[in-house]
Amino acid sequence: MNWILTSGSTVVLTGAGMSTESSLPDFRSKEGWWKNIDPRTVASTEALSHHYDLFHSFYKARLDNLDQASPHNGHRALANWEKYGRIDAVATQNVDGLHQAAGSQTVYELHGSIRRFRCHQCGEELPRSTFIEKEACSCGGRIRPGVVLFGEMLPAEAWEPAMEKMERSDLSIVIGTSLEVYPANQLPAVTRGRTAYINKDIQTGAGDFDLVIRGNAGEVLTTMNTYMDEVLME
Ligand code: OAD
Repeated sequence: MNWILTSGSTVVLTGAGMSTESSLPDFRSKEGWWKNIDPRTVASTEALSHHYDLFHSFYKARLDNLDQASPHNGHRALANWEKYGRIDAVATQNVDGLHQAAGSQTVYELHGSIRRFRCHQCGEELPRSTFIEKEACSCGGRIRPGVVLFGEMLPAEAWEPAMEKMERSDLSIVIGTSLEVYPANQLPAVTRGRTAYINKDIQTGAGDFDLVIRGNAGEVLTTMNTYMDEVLME
C-alpha cells in the first residue's frame, strides 16, 4: 500500500480475472472460454468472414452474460484510488466496460469494447439490436462488436497512451491476467518503477514482479481499499 501512496504515477493493467467475481468467465482458467472453444473458430477475422453463425453465437453468449454482470468492490476500489489521485490510468484487456461502470475515468480498452457495434465493411456505428438480430448493414457488410479479434491490431487510441503512461509510471499493478497475450503482456515491463501482480494462482512469469499477491482480485483490492480509505481521508 505504501508503494501506491508514495508513487508519483501508478498504472494498472487488468485482465479477465478482474471480472470473474462479477460472474464473467475468464479465458484460460478451468472454467474459461478457451478450455472448450478454440478462439480462432469464434473470435477471429476468419470466423467473422467465413463462420458468421459461430462468431455471432459466441458474442451473443458473451453479451447475455454481461447483461447479468455488474462491477464488484474491487472495480470500485480502483475508481476510488483514481479519484484520490493515486492511480493515473487503468489499461484493460477486458471488453466488458465494468471499470467505467464502477467510476474509473481514464480507462484504455486495449481489446476494444463489446458494448459498441459497427459494420465490419464500412465502419458505421450501429445499435446493439442490429447485431443481435443479425441484420446486415445498408452497405451489405456484417455487423460486429467493437472488440479486437485475433488477426487485428490493437486500437492506437488505447495502446499508445497506455504505453506512454506505463513508461512514465513509478508503479504498475497487474491484476487477473495470465499475461499470455501479446502485445498487452509487454506493458508491465516498460514501467521505470516497481511492479506488483495480483492473481488467484501463481503464474509462470510471476517471478518477474517485485511483489506477488495471491488472492481474488475483488477481495484483495477491497481489503486494500479499507486501509487506503482511512489514510486518504485523513
Ligand atoms: P486469461 O483467462 O488468460 O487469464 C485470467 C487470469 O486471471 C488467470 O491468470 C487467472 O488465474 C486469473 N484470475 C481468475 N479469476 C481471478 C480472480 N478472481 N482474482 C484474481 N485473478 C483471477 O485472461 P486474460 O489474461 O485477460 O483477448 O486474457 C487476455 C486475452 O486473451 C483476452 O483479452 C482475450 C483472450 O483471448 C481477446 O479476445 C482479443
